Amino acid sequence: MLTQSQYTALIEKAISSLAFDPRFSGLYDPVVYTLSAGGKRLRPTLLMAAAQAYGTDPASCVEQALGIEMFHNFTLLHDDVMDNADVRRGRPTVHRRWNTNTAILSGDAMLTLAGMLMGTAADSALRRVMAVFNETALGVYEGQQLDMEFEDRSDVSVEEYIEMIRLKTSVLLGGACKIGAILGGASDEDCDAFYDYAMNLGIAFQLQDDMLDTFGDPAVFGKAVGGDIANSKKTWLLITAMKEDTTGTIAQAVEGRIPEAEKFARVKAVYEQLGLPERIAALIGEYTEKALASLASTSIGADARQFFESLTRGLATRRS
Ligand code: IPE
Ligand code: IPE
Ligand code: MG
Ligand code: MG
Ligand code: MG
Repeated sequence: MLTQSQYTALIEKAISSLAFDPRFSGLYDPVVYTLSAGGKRLRPTLLMAAAQAYGTDPASCVEQALGIEMFHNFTLLHDDVMDNADVRRGRPTVHRRWNTNTAILSGDAMLTLAGMLMGTAADSALRRVMAVFNETALGVYEGQQLDMEFEDRSDVSVEEYIEMIRLKTSVLLGGACKIGAILGGASDEDCDAFYDYAMNLGIAFQLQDDMLDTFGDPAVFGKAVGGDIANSKKTWLLITAMKEDTTGTIAQAVEGRIPEAEKFARVKAVYEQLGLPERIAALIGEYTEKALASLASTSIGADARQFFESLTRGLATRRS
């Protein structure tokens, strides 16, 4: 196995060798701007590491790894429009730096580029890779649709929230793992076990993202904090606070009866009073352990298992 930074280096190199028609810099500059701003490169790392866990050279699937990162970045361009977000990876979002139409169209180009990169897989794997990729994409959109619908609902349950984040976040991590496992030549049982691993990893990952959206340090997180509260996103934090808060603060905030500027501080204070930072950390720990249990049911060797274990545990306490 390579180290995490070696997988990252492979993907960074692939990103820096992308070249686009300069006549259409208006379309492609935002693509390069987004991809070159860094990011954890989690999805391509999962894809290449899953392939290598079955003995395949990670360099041989760098195009599909880039494809999955390209798809992820496309979702970010559109997500930032939908969430009205100003900052991503420490820089203005594409719709702020340019405009909304640019974020839509450059995002569309990224989705197509992602499909083209996926489509270069070897013939023996191509049909399965494309099926997983397309199913993955629809799953993400379904999750994003629920995420938007939940903004206007006050009766979202924890179970509905978990299903929404499974779709918008876990499914893409699952697609990355499964495509890597397919390219590596894994058995159907192992492909499924890897997918189960990613379902739980993704839930832990999104819970952590939601926690950081309120409690993170913007300079480290790379995104502004407070967006979820401003949009009344039905995160585990907000759903739990809506159920347990007896002061009326949360109800007033969600009904829009607290001025925007005060909303964040007051809701955050309720989260703290209810001990939610500690409780969400415990929940993240539970999903992390479930992920590790699925990993243990694959047939991968000791060094591959160690790689995925340390990646998984590292994500549970990440700050960015
Ligand atoms: C952001 O994903 C979207 C979520 C699913 C929370 P990442 O946290 O992986 O973003 P980058 O790629 O590292 O910037
Ligand atoms: C988005 O979740 C998941 C995607 C499909 C992009 P968020 O809206 O929480 O992601 P961030 O916090 O903007 O990265
Ligand atoms: Mg967002
Ligand atoms: Mg969003
Ligand atoms: Mg978020």
